[in-house]
Amino acid sequence: SAFDFGMIGLGVMGRNFLLNMADHGFSVIGFDKDQQKNDALEQAATPGTTVKGVADLATMVQLLKSPRKIMMLVPAGKPVDDVIESLLPLLQKGDVVIDGGNSYWKDTLRRVEYCKEKGLHFMGMGVSGGEKGARTGPSIMPGGDEEAYRHVQPMLEAVAAKVGDSPCVGYLGKGAAGHFVKMVHNGIEYAIMQLISESYNMLRQGAGLTNQQLHEVFSKWNEGVNQSFLLEITRDIFLQKDDKGTGELLDKISDQAGSKGTGKWTSQDALNLPLPVTVIDAAVALRNISSLKEQRTQAAALYQTATGKVAVAQEEFIKQVHDALMFSTIICYAQGLAMLQTASKELDMQISLPESVRVWRAGCIIRSGLLPLFYTAYQQDPSLPNLLLDAEVAKLLQQTEGNLRTVIVEAAKTGLPAAAFMSALSYFDAYRSERLPTNMVQAQRDYFGAHTYQRIDMPGTFHTEWQ
Ligand code: 6PG
Repeated sequence: SAFDFGMIGLGVMGRNFLLNMADHGFSVIGFDKDQQKNDALEQAATPGTTVKGVADLATMVQLLKSPRKIMMLVPAGKPVDDVIESLLPLLQKGDVVIDGGNSYWKDTLRRVEYCKEKGLHFMGMGVSGGEKGARTGPSIMPGGDEEAYRHVQPMLEAVAAKVGDSPCVGYLGKGAAGHFVKMVHNGIEYAIMQLISESYNMLRQGAGLTNQQLHEVFSKWNEGVNQSFLLEITRDIFLQKDDKGTGELLDKISDQAGSKGTGKWTSQDALNLPLPVTVIDAAVALRNISSLKEQRTQAAALYQTATGKVAVAQEEFIKQVHDALMFSTIICYAQGLAMLQTASKELDMQISLPESVRVWRAGCIIRSGLLPLFYTAYQQDPSLPNLLLDAEVAKLLQQTEGNLRTVIVEAAKTGLPAAAFMSALSYFDAYRSERLPTNMVQAQRDYFGAHTYQRIDMPGTFHTEWQ
């Protein structure tokens, strides 16, 4: 019998995605060179579902219904190109190949063109939600070849996370739009994680809360309007006991943070557009600073600036940090979504902002109680340049702005690092300034380089012989 859907790469993500699809009534087949992974796939199948694992790619391709629908979940970079090359001699015109990994969008653009020449539909597709999401309902971000999308749409809708009846998948835009949206999703993910780590530090080091107390604080925060997946896992992390010693595991984990590049790409592409995503930049920079452990150890001995305790009463400070986190979290969504809006035009991706926000409402790492608000904002105005200009979003920012300022004052006085908080506020203060001091920059440019300037009181371009 012929299979509905094929998967290349049966790591935990690929396996779980296939099992999810099989649970929804589709017959699925996976390929992995590693026979153990094929066995693991078949053994994990729900009884009564049709799931097969094979160690030969040609066998998998032969067993698929035409047009074939094949997805790969392999590491980004060369492995994706290798898979394409090995598939080319086996496929027929009209077959659909989907890259569900975290590929860089420019690679995806190149692969779309390459596959088109060969008569194949190639689609870059972001998948978010980790192992559990893949198994029970991820957020799925496809883009590019719309015809290819229509072939797989019913399957993707079946496996995706749901908000009510609405599946968290949709056609997001042209070319590499799917991978572009996923990249920005990850940039926002980096930024929120950094903001949460700064909040934790302010409360732990600055206000002296225990992990148990932090668990309770985050439990409460996770019930509010900005309830989110990342708050939820943070809440649970505080309680996890050390399985190799005493106390809580969190205290034993090294502070050197890893990364696979998606946050960095977001910052790089934002600079190229150009468009500011300063909270994401701060998050990327802080992961980089975190890896300079030896230098930080030397500097800590050199600069013995006392890291003090905050001067605000504990209960009050908890509320202030909550608001600071909410404010800054909104800022990083605003920056990321403004980037999608600009890329939509500048990179000709025609990214749908309402659709992007809609598919983030469930299943993905940055799902949050704030997204319905953002969704409404973009539904009302799909070309909204920045969430900060939406009246309802503005209300939330106005309510929390004062407390962010207080938290930053405390951070500065106590010497606790708060780069992401500070970036959020700096961006906000610049964005809401009708007049910035960049008139000085223009004057200087004209002074030393005759770069010219415009005036506020008359049209035209001017140059002055500065005295
Ligand atoms: C997701 C995640 C996922 C992955 C990150 C991790 O949406 O499910 O974003 O794709 O966990 O890419 O990225 P780093 O290793 O760079 O932190």
